Amino acid sequence: MFWALIGAGVFTYGVIYLVALCLVDSDLNLAFLERFGKSISRIKGKVVFITGASSGIGEYTAYALAKHGVKLVLAARRRNELERVKRKCLELSNGSLIDSDVLVIAMDMCDLVSHKMHFQNAIRHFGHVDVLFNNAGRSQRAMWENIDITVDKDLFELNVFSVINLSRVALEHFNQRGEGHVAVTSSLAGVIGVAYSGSYTGAKHAIHGYMNSLRNEKMGKRITVSLFCPGPVFTNFLQESFTDKPGEKYGITTQPTDRRLTAERCGQLCAIGIANKIKEGWMAMFPLMPITYCAVYFPLIFHL
Ligand SMILES: NC(=O)c1ccc[n+]([C@@H]2O[C@H](COP(=O)([O-])OP(=O)(O)OC[C@H]3O[C@@H](n4cnc5c(N)ncnc54)[C@H](OP(=O)(O)O)[C@@H]3O)[C@@H](O)[C@H]2O)c1
Repeated sequence: MFWALIGAGVFTYGVIYLVALCLVDSDLNLAFLERFGKSISRIKGKVVFITGASSGIGEYTAYALAKHGVKLVLAARRRNELERVKRKCLELSNGSLIDSDVLVIAMDMCDLVSHKMHFQNAIRHFGHVDVLFNNAGRSQRAMWENIDITVDKDLFELNVFSVINLSRVALEHFNQRGEGHVAVTSSLAGVIGVAYSGSYTGAKHAIHGYMNSLRNEKMGKRITVSLFCPGPVFTNFLQESFTDKPGEKYGITTQPTDRRLTAERCGQLCAIGIANKIKEGWMAMFPLMPITYCAVYFPLIFHL
């Protein structure tokens, strides 16, 4: 009787868990924090440095933060797009941000030697930086065996080495202050192996390794690390993707009928993740959440 009750309890828990996963567009921890965790306004007045802020997930995370009076450094290569995002941030902030609360920095993430100068500019402007959100990146569409090794190297340069280099620059500052938060836009490709994105999947897995190692080194200190893992999102991402050939872009746009999160929803979830300093957050439309849970927790069934 005792074991029957335990079995029934476990079965009921499993069913409720699975049903819940079919109803949300993030992992259950993030879904819980969205309703009951710290609101984004708890970080009002803090300074968040966002790379890849000129479009997509970075742009919409900036809007979600600006609405709550979070000060921003908007970084990417296209200054005119960053100025557009800045204007919208000021508009959405409803008077809680003034012009000097949003700093635009035009920078190429692959120019590693410039990272220190750009980060110092942000510190000089605001006095300090509280959060570095490493979001800039490009995806890939290619058959694994056809990928030119130069593409692997170029993709790692942007999606891995630029991220860890800028994070090290930020950590120098965070170590001096005794606190700071490093967040990274990884991907569900950093959690499971995604077909036709070999170098990209490898790069996002590498980011998990680097960032999980950093988190463990800083355990017990006030320096924290978040990994955000979106599934498909409506952005310029596909168009900008690497292929198997050096210098080539995939050039295909997303279709309105695709099953993807909007960049606005993804940005909102990233902002919640930053406010709550989550360790890892998954974000995607059904059925990717239950599939990812199964792939991670039942790997023998799901060899992904
Ligand atoms: N969209 C998805 O389905 C999806 C899914 C999972 C993960 N992600 C991740 O989300 C992040 C953002 O991508 P997104 O979907 O928002 O794509 P996006 O709209 O193409 O945005 C990419 C951003 O990165 C910046 N960027 C690219 N190369 C750069 C460089 N060399 N130096 C500085 N900035 C650079 C771009 O700005 P400039 O061109 O102005 O430099 C742009 O702001 C990426 O890390 C990606 O891996 C996206």
